[in-house]
Amino acid sequence: MFTAGPHPLHVDIDLSTKCNLRCRFCHLSHFEPKEWTQISLEQFAELEPVLSRAKSITLFSKYEPLTCRDFVPIFERIATFGAETYFSTNGILLTDEVIDALVGRLTFLTVSVTGFTRETYARHMGQDRLDTVRDNLARLNAAKAARGTDLPKLRVSTVGMQETVDDLTMAVDFARDFAMAEGVQVTYLKAHGPEMVADMPLADPARFAASAAKAAEYAASLGIKFDLQGGTIDEIEAATAALGHKMCDMPWRRLSLQPNGDVYPCPLSYQPVGNFFEERLEDIWTGPRLAAFRAGVNDPENMNPDCRDCSHCRHRSVLKPQANDFSTAETYVGGMRRK
Ligand SMILES: C[S@@+](CC[C@H](N)C(=O)[O-])C[C@H]1O[C@@H](n2cnc3c(N)ncnc32)[C@H](O)[C@@H]1O
Ligand code: SF4
Ligand code: SF4
Repeated sequence: MFTAGPHPLHVDIDLSTKCNLRCRFCHLSHFEPKEWTQISLEQFAELEPVLSRAKSITLFSKYEPLTCRDFVPIFERIATFGAETYFSTNGILLTDEVIDALVGRLTFLTVSVTGFTRETYARHMGQDRLDTVRDNLARLNAAKAARGTDLPKLRVSTVGMQETVDDLTMAVDFARDFAMAEGVQVTYLKAHGPEMVADMPLADPARFAASAAKAAEYAASLGIKFDLQGGTIDEIEAATAALGHKMCDMPWRRLSLQPNGDVYPCPLSYQPVGNFFEERLEDIWTGPRLAAFRAGVNDPENMNPDCRDCSHCRHRSVLKPQANDFSTAETYVGGMRRK
């Protein structure tokens, strides 16, 4: 079985629980975070003894990191740690100041776009801002060229659903247009409201798989990376058959932090194992609550409810309704509650 080292190798942290968009598919359209809050530079400084030891730091989990007021000064601190760094954003708030801070220092940046025409973007993402995202990516690439750096390495992430699966080739074109070294990532839609249920891949897996395979072939013909998150439907089903989710080592190598101080064993768990405003992160990492959670991750006889119905793209079945359909759930990961 897995063993935990003296400190987490990977930390993810939501710097803010806010977002400037309300994408129709997103949990934020149906659930409210436990608190509307963000972390300040002073609060972040308290985490440095643990964060500065991590090998990789992800600056988001469930919300929009660029809505954090202190994003730039916090990133300036993180850049001194020497860790691999990554976040995902809708890309609308990539100002010149943010671009200046990221270029040559952030390792990976994912920009999320679902809908590759002005009309379909506005339908799925809720605002007519595709041109802003394109302009921002062009300025980011110009800044990379001016500094002679390939960082941040770019990727576009798009939500795979019955309505968009035939448009995945447009995501490949988008990755090509912006010279995205990490290509395209497709996430499998989870339904957070009843209107999204018929759009889940499991509503017609054969159609979804065939269209995704075509887009993958197109990407290969252009030499562009194309990643269905967690694998193809067949690969995921084979890997999740025994446990209901893949063998998961996340709570042995990672901690997941919220800006209200709550600390979770992974980004998909429902209950915190501590709060970093009340206890040292080092003590939470070695403490009894996280140990008890770890004991229920991969044991079929004694599985945490979070793990039994894990909705993490890299771990879950994409055909099992419990791991994909949250359209009537009253609560959601990270303490979210239905609006
Ligand atoms: C929740 S967002 C947070 C980070 C940032 N705001 C962004 O959009 O990239 C993280 C990723 O989840 C994806 N996502 C949101 N809702 C989803 C859903 N219902 N099913 C699958 N993926 C989803 C988004 O497209 C995005 O790539
Ligand atoms: S931009 Fe990201 S966090 Fe904001 S609503 Fe869309 S998917 Fe959710
Ligand atoms: S909820 Fe999923 S990602 Fe989190 S520990 Fe359990 S199996 Fe792993």
